[in-house]
Amino acid sequence: MTLDEMKRAAARAAVAFVPDNCVVGVGTGSTANHFIDALAEIKGRIEGAVASSEASAARLKSHGIPVFDLNAIDRLPIYVDGADEINHYLHAVKGGGAALTREKIVAAVAEQFICIADETKLVDVLGKFPLPVEVIPMARSHVARQLVLLGGRPAYREGVVTDNGNVILDVHGLQITEPGKLEGEINQIVGVVTNGLFAQRRADVLLLGTASGVQTFR
Ligand code: 5RP
Repeated sequence: MTLDEMKRAAARAAVAFVPDNCVVGVGTGSTANHFIDALAEIKGRIEGAVASSEASAARLKSHGIPVFDLNAIDRLPIYVDGADEINHYLHAVKGGGAALTREKIVAAVAEQFICIADETKLVDVLGKFPLPVEVIPMARSHVARQLVLLGGRPAYREGVVTDNGNVILDVHGLQITEPGKLEGEINQIVGVVTNGLFAQRRADVLLLGTASGVQTFR
């Protein structure tokens, strides 16, 4: 089974969690794209979706799924998204696709966050995947210096501008043993919009695509 088949299996398993007649929060990335494609097959039983990126919004619309502004809806029962790394407490690192801020906003609103991933994403300690931090452009050097003080090696993601008009620093060399604490510390740095740690709002369910099928963690 390829990694892409594992992602697809996890994404398709998430459809069973989608309640009827609701607006669905939709993430960003290759695994989320599989979920969007699966959602298209049941689009008659949902009202539509809220997207965490312009790319996901475009894919949803290409399937004829209505896309709502988050401010226009009262409640969001479910959010489905991938991850770059996730641990056994369902704390995740996200933002490999530079959509972390909108992803974090949609996850904060959602009543249930379902993470979908292939088996390579499950780790004991977060940090091997460089931690993305979205930064206001004029604060880039200041934030980078502060991230060094926290023990990381920030690298500017060249040529990437987020949907919010900001830049990304990818922080290498972190062993993230206290994800919730580090998430808060990085967010306190002036100029940081948010960072890719999803610990203070962790996933509620992980659907992990593996060679032997989709495993569910809660
Ligand atoms: C985008 C994300 C994605 O969820 C993360 O990068 C995983 O991507 P993929 O499903 O392509 O492996 O956080 O900002």
